[in-house]
Amino acid sequence: QEDVFKKIVSHCKEYGFVFPSSDIYDGLGAVYDYGQNGVELKNNIKQYWWQSMVLLHENIVGIDAAIFMHPTTWKASGHVDAFNDPLIDNRDSKKRYRADVLIEDQIAKYEEKINKEIAKAAKKFGDSFDEQKFRETNPRVLEHQQKRDALHQRYSDAMNASDLNELKQIILDEGIVCPISGTHNWTDVRQFNLMFKTEVGSTAEGSSTIYLRPETAQGIFVNYLNVQKTGRMKLPFGIAQIGKAFRNEIVARQFIFRMREFEQMEMQYFVKPGTELQWFETWKKTRMAWHQALGFGAENYRFHDHEKLAHYANAASDIEFHMPFGFKEVEGIHSRTNFDLSQHAKYSGKKIEYFDPETNESYTPYVIETSIGVDRMFLSIMCHSYEEEKLENGETRVVLKLPEALAPVKLAVMPLVKKDGLPEKAHEIISNLRFHFNCKYDEKDSIGKRYRRQDAIGTPYCVTVDYDTLKDNTVTLRHRDTMEQKRVNIADLQGIIEDRVSI
Ligand code: GAP
Repeated sequence: QEDVFKKIVSHCKEYGFVFPSSDIYDGLGAVYDYGQNGVELKNNIKQYWWQSMVLLHENIVGIDAAIFMHPTTWKASGHVDAFNDPLIDNRDSKKRYRADVLIEDQIAKYEEKINKEIAKAAKKFGDSFDEQKFRETNPRVLEHQQKRDALHQRYSDAMNASDLNELKQIILDEGIVCPISGTHNWTDVRQFNLMFKTEVGSTAEGSSTIYLRPETAQGIFVNYLNVQKTGRMKLPFGIAQIGKAFRNEIVARQFIFRMREFEQMEMQYFVKPGTELQWFETWKKTRMAWHQALGFGAENYRFHDHEKLAHYANAASDIEFHMPFGFKEVEGIHSRTNFDLSQHAKYSGKKIEYFDPETNESYTPYVIETSIGVDRMFLSIMCHSYEEEKLENGETRVVLKLPEALAPVKLAVMPLVKKDGLPEKAHEIISNLRFHFNCKYDEKDSIGKRYRRQDAIGTPYCVTVDYDTLKDNTVTLRHRDTMEQKRVNIADLQGIIEDRVSI
């Protein structure tokens, strides 16, 4: 599985999906650039989200707020005081780690040990193996389970109490060593704020410190009154936004899974107090259905309900996707109460309320938030679509089985040879179809190689222009997944392809 992941990462680079940022300078940690194919896939993901959230909902509208916000925003939202990670340094390697991640990795190690015992026994006993019974009776498994559960409990208690000394003590008691130096030489644990700071204004005029937003949500909260009033919105209603967010993540790993600059697609749904948990359930279902509509199989998704809640939430659940490195969070659905709007009212001195024409009361709405990372969605799509297929002739074909609507290129048009008017005919086909979907012209190398190149970037349709085309205006249409080829009229191409590739 780890090997597959490595292949996907290098495939992303080789085929123009994702490059390390400032690659010629050997990259910048946890920052990435999207290439010629990546940007198309990413734009399609955003469009797919926007259409289903904004255009298909009568009562949800979009905005595009600035990345820079008044500094008081982050005081009010709690991010200045509470948006922290607990960090610990190793004195020998001088490397910095997240204390919580070190402990979570340790919990995962117990899990691995349990799985190893089970795999060993399953192999030994074959069909007669009863996993449940084995878990309940095998002394080694019981011991690992007990250690895992005790550690998990102690860790949760320490995190809930924000007890930094206890986090350090856990690391010492568990004998966790630095992955680089292999030593126990740990410093104390301290809180580290994840927001990036910068300055506005020249120093001559006097400057002030501002932050790069760590979530897009606050741009929505501070615009609640503007949108509600100018759009005459009635509760319940939503405001959606897609945009960049920035976090100074210390543990940068798993490629574009955890980045310092990333993109979020968030929607805040404003509801009447008391109805929020009902809406929370509705949005959980709606968002899970959106993910599953991509056709990657329901078994690859699960909810993870939070026990430990962020400072603003009264319920929270993640939608996790089965990545090559385990089930991982792609989207969060949070019931944020009236925390943010009340805080902004307090700090700004403005009355941020809703006048309910049905009951003649004014109140601060409650909020359900759906928050998904574009880059994580991108990664989950790449991971699920990447396939190495063994063909009948013994060759392996690498194919990205992307949902057709999300594929960067929908149709590649290829002249069989580079002469006798075939290239001109191919260009003519593209010049008509490019108004309907993304088409690419490709004349280099053999047809077989060209097909492989298109398979590798997930192009669902290829058309070959040959000598018969000049006579009867038909072409060979080949489908990516089945590799089936059929003869069709040029005039029918738009009709055949458009329906299947539109978002
Ligand atoms: N407004 C709520 C919020 O920001 P979050 O759970 O911290 O909640 C929401 O983030 C989503 O943003 C996550 O589910 C994930 O998809 C994405 N995300 C968060 N941090 C990220 C990072 N460092 N790199 C890439 N995506 C990230």
